[in-house]
Amino acid sequence: MTIILKTDPNNPDPLILDKAAKILRSGGIVAFPTETVYGLGGVVYNEDAVKKIFWAKKRPIDNPLIVHVSSLSMLEEVAVSIPEKAYLLIERFWPGPLTLILPRNPKVPRIVTSGLDIVAVRMPAHPVALGLIKKTESPIAAPSANLAGRPSPTSAEHVIRDLYGRVDAIIDAGETIYGVESTIINILTKPPTLLRPGAFAVEDLERVLGEKIYIPSFARGLGEAEHAIAPGMKYLHYAPEASIILVEPASQNIESMVEKIKTLASSYLEKGVRVCVVASTETIEKYTSLKIPILNIGSRSNMFEVARNLFKTLRKLDDLGCIIAIIEGFEERGLGLAVMNRLRKASREIIHV
Ligand code: TXA
Ligand code: MG
Repeated sequence: MTIILKTDPNNPDPLILDKAAKILRSGGIVAFPTETVYGLGGVVYNEDAVKKIFWAKKRPIDNPLIVHVSSLSMLEEVAVSIPEKAYLLIERFWPGPLTLILPRNPKVPRIVTSGLDIVAVRMPAHPVALGLIKKTESPIAAPSANLAGRPSPTSAEHVIRDLYGRVDAIIDAGETIYGVESTIINILTKPPTLLRPGAFAVEDLERVLGEKIYIPSFARGLGEAEHAIAPGMKYLHYAPEASIILVEPASQNIESMVEKIKTLASSYLEKGVRVCVVASTETIEKYTSLKIPILNIGSRSNMFEVARNLFKTLRKLDDLGCIIAIIEGFEERGLGLAVMNRLRKASREIIHV
């Protein structure tokens, strides 16, 4: 049985938070909104609750969970030997979509970190998430509230679609704000390493740190679709049912990207395959002659909008019954890095033009 608890995102109903906190304290698991995506939480110290999270999501147990805190004292309960650099970022960016990799306090069960001696911690900025952690009076382990491999949920409807009947409660407080997950930084390496680009741009973190952050190619989402042995053989993330073909424009050569997408879409149409295109505000008009579903992911000049629409758009492809979805690529600057990471990881094929 899953109960749905509806509340206002900005002024969460204290009775709703009490109810959800009570479920968490008694070992249950609850999906709740954060400013990035919905999370599926359990009390970090309750191993059975953490096991239920892995089970509900069908998540492999070697993929560790982020620990969510609502205060610095809670942070110091789950991590030890926290470097000065971490506090530099924390002062400026918490609460907010920044996750830091820190040495694990042995109090945190190993199942949370998949056996690692490091723990990922963040303080979310969403009033419902913060309020819930405070009321529960415990750090909360929470991955994104989607079935493993599916696009992350940016609304309660997405969570209901994936997890209804598999979790104890879902707090519905409407759409999330950023639409992509938190930025994950390993602050223990020299220089710090980006493990996942996310809602806070790397450039902004570098400015506060006063040093460059190392960006490995996996953080750009490279090395998966490219190295696929055969299409469909690799492990997909963030992926809808539709097969995604990503067309990346070199040095923002938008014209040839559009031409390539039109040619590709026509060839699938001729074969009778239901093909859809994900375009941007600037290019959407150029595809109308194809007479196929064209989705607008947002404006090229507003990556905040594109990020916000990203997972919602991927899920919409399935609602439309698209078999093949051809998606435009974006520039890897600011939030564009997170958008391209997610798109590449969701793709079956990447074409450069
Ligand atoms: O915005 C977010 O971060 C959302 C909301 C719910 O807070 N959470 C989220 O969690 O995206 P999840 O589980 O979907 O992604 C967490 C990522 C995974 O790629 C995982 O491998 C990595 O963080 N991670 C977690 N703990 C780690 C650790 N100890 N060391 C290295 N990576 C870790
Ligand atoms: Mg996830």
